[in-house]
Amino acid sequence: MIRLGLLGATGRMGTLITSLIQSEFKSEIEVVAFARKGDSLEPLLSTDVVIDVSLPPVMAQLASLAVKRAKNLPRFVVGSTGWAPEDYAVIESLSQLTPVLVASNFSSGVFALSMILKDYAPLFKKLEYTPVIIERHHCHKKDAPSGTARTLQKSISPQNPDQIQTQSIRAGEVIGDHEVTFFGAGDQITLSHHAQDRSIFARGAIQVAKWLTQAPPQTNKTLGMSDYFESLKTESLGVS
Ligand SMILES: NC(=O)c1ccc[n+]([C@@H]2O[C@H](COP(=O)([O-])OP(=O)(O)OC[C@H]3O[C@@H](n4cnc5c(N)ncnc54)[C@H](OP(=O)(O)O)[C@@H]3O)[C@@H](O)[C@H]2O)c1
Repeated sequence: MIRLGLLGATGRMGTLITSLIQSEFKSEIEVVAFARKGDSLEPLLSTDVVIDVSLPPVMAQLASLAVKRAKNLPRFVVGSTGWAPEDYAVIESLSQLTPVLVASNFSSGVFALSMILKDYAPLFKKLEYTPVIIERHHCHKKDAPSGTARTLQKSISPQNPDQIQTQSIRAGEVIGDHEVTFFGAGDQITLSHHAQDRSIFARGAIQVAKWLTQAPPQTNKTLGMSDYFESLKTESLGVS
């Protein structure tokens, strides 16, 4: 049985992860620790794996506690978005001590979109198309552009991601839409991802957490969704 800690358990994502575990994963995962605002974060460190769906400063606080402890640490799946560089540094330190996977988006569809962009953005650039990202999210979302938009910017332009024009719309209860349009002189090409249900992120987070418990204990680098999907590819090919 995997002993899971959940940071952000009372939020939109946390609530969904808890109910999905109860409905679909209860024979293999048990939520043994969670922290509400004001609670001690220490109990989260006595688990096998922690899923973070809170806020970067809160996860950074937990990571600092873990780095101080340095031994017998759980693994970490970090899903919070909107990281400031000063908060993120401790995540990199934590990755030297225990496997840590950071993902701005746990859905396989967004991963596929970012792979398509990685492959084809150089061609669009050669053909002189200008990429523009438009992302829409619910009015409660705290960060803009979204973490996913930042990931897509990097897929299009790894060297100069900030130069990709990006517009953020925060309105209503939109779960998460990302649209990448390549504007040419006389035409335009649009690739888009539309999340219809938040459970695609919750299920992805749980699957990644399960996978992370099997990862080698020392990875020495922060893992991402590409590491997870690459390992699925080798598994399905029967490569060890
Ligand atoms: N990677 C992905 O696929 C993905 C998908 C969706 C969202 N996200 C990200 O996940 C995060 C959460 O999203 P959400 O929509 O679930 O937000 P939310 O509904 O606002 O939930 C935030 C959670 O963080 C908790 N929290 C805030 N301050 C805290 C503190 N000081 N100590 C302990 N807990 C604290 C909140 O607890 P209280 O209720 O007590 O305030 C709440 O449980 C955001 O960064 C979002 O961008 C990631």
